[in-house]
Amino acid sequence: MSATPDAASVKRFAERRARFLDAIGPGVAVFPAAPVFIRNNDVEHSYRQDSDFHYLTGFEEPESVLVLTNRHPEHRAILFVRPRNKEREIWDGPRAGVEGAVEHFGVDAAFTLDELPEKLPDYLADVDRLHAAVGQGHPFEQTLFEALRALRGRARRGVAAPTEIVDPAKALHEMRLRKDEAEVALMRRAAELTRDAHVEAMKVAAPGRHEYEVDAEMARIFRLGGSARPAYDSIVGSGPNATILHYRANDRRMEEGDLLLIDAGCELDYYAADVTRTFPVSGSFTPPQRALYELCLRSQLAAIEAVKPGATLDDVHDAAVKVIAAGLIELGLLEGPLEKCIEEQTYRAFFMHKTSHWLGMDVHDVGAYFVRGEPRPLEPGFVLTIEPGIYVGVDADVDEKWRGIGIRIEDDVLVTEDGHRNLTEDIPKDPDEIEALMKG
Ligand code: GLY
Ligand code: MN
Ligand code: MN
Repeated sequence: MSATPDAASVKRFAERRARFLDAIGPGVAVFPAAPVFIRNNDVEHSYRQDSDFHYLTGFEEPESVLVLTNRHPEHRAILFVRPRNKEREIWDGPRAGVEGAVEHFGVDAAFTLDELPEKLPDYLADVDRLHAAVGQGHPFEQTLFEALRALRGRARRGVAAPTEIVDPAKALHEMRLRKDEAEVALMRRAAELTRDAHVEAMKVAAPGRHEYEVDAEMARIFRLGGSARPAYDSIVGSGPNATILHYRANDRRMEEGDLLLIDAGCELDYYAADVTRTFPVSGSFTPPQRALYELCLRSQLAAIEAVKPGATLDDVHDAAVKVIAAGLIELGLLEGPLEKCIEEQTYRAFFMHKTSHWLGMDVHDVGAYFVRGEPRPLEPGFVLTIEPGIYVGVDADVDEKWRGIGIRIEDDVLVTEDGHRNLTEDIPKDPDEIEALMKG
């Protein structure tokens, strides 16, 4: 069964439903729970509720469907849920059932799933606009389309089916993009637990140990701290693996002289942290490693400084690029002049991704990046990552001393009224502080 949310959370979910209904105007919205995915044979992938569904309900059971309407005389929020079932509950654990859905989750009405084919057309009858995410292959689409067909079959009885299907993301993801105080508090808790794991990783990593030992230690800290799961598969890449952007095998034995790049964050109550730190496994940076590390850090600090209301993600990225490109020219990895390097994007040989993405319930969180084709200005309440990197491939056409060095530094930054607040700033990233911590 879903963990039962506390009264304050139930109130928050209800407020979100009301705000969403206000935002869409007259209409009905339907949201299915995340589908269950088979891993192999009869084993399922571990279940995580869909972020939109959770944002509006706090309800964690699969197969459920939420209907929100401002076109019904009595009901605003209706949940369709799995029925109580003594035998199934012996195998899978307790279910809320229709009584639990109303009592503990604060919806106006609840029905069992087998009532959906009959009741859904009733909720959609004579409603012009239906808000539903279609075309994503969700099994619920079939049920929804059948409900529409059933309704169209009632046309001669004077019942009209919706004539428009609108993506609910338009309204809902605008809401999710702006984090309120409670959400920021949760993200800050996720950041604290993620800090503990990264600090421990710096103590555990050593030549002769394996990347998975560090991965396991961090997962242990996440879990003991109340995190249900990491926010994404942790990247623990040592030596040349640090230059592979989506490295995930985490099985190499670390060697003297390696840098270790760790991109790992926990998910806490459905909110993600997304943090990268890079440090030398033997406790001291070599001079070339330190030169590139300090450059990456200067670039990251410049990008963080650029975060304020009105700035765009392009402004933030440009601030990072400018520092990295100038530094790479100075160190001899790139040819100048700086303007040409930026214009022709030659820096992308070493810094090939963007600096930021939205962060929230999803690690690459929802919310439009462009408004009417223009990069959208940042607003207080947005949370974004700042994560420049420098990756020199093992066969890069540069002085040998740089080859195989991979560095990324990533923090989670909240846009505030007067600038920004770095939610993950207490995770060590100053090179002297890292060396001191590893020696201590
Ligand atoms: N950890 C995924 C990312 O940094 O985007
Ligand atoms: Mn990351
Ligand atoms: Mn990221």
